[in-house]
Amino acid sequence: MDRKIAVLGDIHSNLEALDTVIEDARAQGVNEWLCVGDVVGYNANPNECCARIRELGAVTVCGNHDHYCAWREPLDDFSPLAATVVQWTRDALSSENTEWLRSLHHVELAAGLTLVHATLDGPAYWGYVFDDLDAETSISYQKTQVCFHGHTHVPVAFEMHHGRVFRLAPGIFRLDAGRKYFLNTGSIGQPRDGDVRASYCIYVPSDKHVEYRRVPYDIEKTQRAIYDAGLPTRLATRLSEGR
Ligand SMILES: [Fe+2]
Repeated sequence: MDRKIAVLGDIHSNLEALDTVIEDARAQGVNEWLCVGDVVGYNANPNECCARIRELGAVTVCGNHDHYCAWREPLDDFSPLAATVVQWTRDALSSENTEWLRSLHHVELAAGLTLVHATLDGPAYWGYVFDDLDAETSISYQKTQVCFHGHTHVPVAFEMHHGRVFRLAPGIFRLDAGRKYFLNTGSIGQPRDGDVRASYCIYVPSDKHVEYRRVPYDIEKTQRAIYDAGLPTRLATRLSEGR
């Protein structure tokens, strides 16, 4: 059986989005799972999302929200909105899931790929890759042909060819053997590219095929969970805006 790998990321405690993505991926024949981090933070179901990812056996790297929700360190670099929900998530997480989050590494090699949440040049500094120059810096540290990452919540593909980086629109494409790829899966639980649907990738190693997928899910249910938990209402309204 061909390996078919789903690469999930920036789930952010959004259980409805995660379950819908898992269902979609299984319908596509996915039989292996990877995760580029930020399993928790922002939405209302951190323990359930940790449980799902652990049940899938997904090799998972640590995101900045995973780190700060698991370790009670100062939140100086967080916006007031994000800091509020990190505090809430710290209290909501079971000790077992806190320990699991603490066990995650910043970089993993799995299925011949590299996984990192933010950048390979400073995986623990949580820099953002928004443009070709940011991507070029990270790719210079990349030992495998393909690295999946997240963090910006915006799906995008960067391709390096003859020392130059090009931006590819997220879609369906085959990887060229002589090139390197730095691929942002987009966000399952809080997309910020104006498209409210959950975003993830499917990778087929045998034919070097990558597919970016968008999946609609029950946003209103996630929003009700946020209101019921007493989390800031902005966390709910932004899901309807994709921002
Ligand atoms: Fe994130």
